Amino acid sequence: MDQYTVLGIETSCDETAASVVRWHQGRGEILANCVFSQIDTHAPYGGVVPELAARQHLPLITDMITSALTQAEVPAPALDAVAATAGPGLVGGVMIGLTTGKAFAAALGKPIIPVNHLEAHALTARLSADIRFPYLLLLVSGGHCQLMVVEALGQYRLLGQTLDDAVGEAFDKTAKYLGLSYPGGPEIEARAARGDAKRFQLPRPLAGQPHANFSFSGLKTAMQQAADQSAPLTDSDINDLCASMQAAILDCLIDRTALAAAIFAADYGQNAKSLVVAGGVAANQVLRQAMQELCAAHQLALHVAPAALCTDNAAMIAWTGCEYLAADRLPDQILALAMAARPRWPLAEL
Ligand code: KG4
Ligand code: ZN
Repeated sequence: MDQYTVLGIETSCDETAASVVRWHQGRGEILANCVFSQIDTHAPYGGVVPELAARQHLPLITDMITSALTQAEVPAPALDAVAATAGPGLVGGVMIGLTTGKAFAAALGKPIIPVNHLEAHALTARLSADIRFPYLLLLVSGGHCQLMVVEALGQYRLLGQTLDDAVGEAFDKTAKYLGLSYPGGPEIEARAARGDAKRFQLPRPLAGQPHANFSFSGLKTAMQQAADQSAPLTDSDINDLCASMQAAILDCLIDRTALAAAIFAADYGQNAKSLVVAGGVAANQVLRQAMQELCAAHQLALHVAPAALCTDNAAMIAWTGCEYLAADRLPDQILALAMAARPRWPLAEL
């Protein structure tokens, strides 16, 4: 077939999402991308509360699916498959989306494709741009911080990952400590633009190490100590802390990504052509500018997915389903229907 239409379902964190994507000759068209963000529910806590997230997914998910199909003008029987996140993520939420997807697929007599959420982030750049394997991926969000080579469909080589907090978490925890809004990234970026990044000397954990791992928890503690020493904080102190923290985080990302780019070039030669930056933190304009410069220095093309596809969404889940259908690699349906939600599911296990 030269066309597939797939429903995607995403419930692994604090977004309840459903989307319909059509694959046609290697390109993706998003027919509907419905996302309900639970930010208001979790904002008072400064982070996602798993139990609250799961309870909110439950009454919303069927409405999101109906909205997506209606908006896409695709009657359910016209779908070729249903793809649902099966992990990694907050297990209560994953169970709700995966079980709904299985039931819907079974009722329609269509295949279910359980999708690895990290794999979906890794593949999404191909939905909107003609990006060939292999490519280097920097995945930076509230839940993930990884550098990998996307070698082929289902084939991912991890070059480095965070040993403690994810990078978005570092932004969010900084914001919480300084009494700023949740999620922290956007306000920290705005305040950093008005602050002095050199005022507070913060460490660059793991910089210069011969591996591409990250660590942000020591940096967070250093930021807290700097804040405590300057308390009570004025508005301009907070701006300077935001600027110093953002500079330290971005320096770490740039240092590790430069190392990964060198490994990528050495191991893949002429085929090493692109760097993809994905995840919510990719919205940061200072990071984008730095990655642009890094790519120019390493002769790589930079691809940053549109914002709506950087943060968690179901189009990326549907697209992953499309990629597997188009490659004629549908999972065994008995195993797929029996598959349990997985809180942890490293890409290496695919
Ligand atoms: O991908 P995403 O929507 O959800 C997860 O899977 O986590 O990423 C959300 C994360 C939050 O931690 C948020 O603070 C961060 O992305 N973020 C940013 C910016 N916008 C969002 N971090 C830095 N700068 C930004 N402009
Ligand atoms: Zn994610």
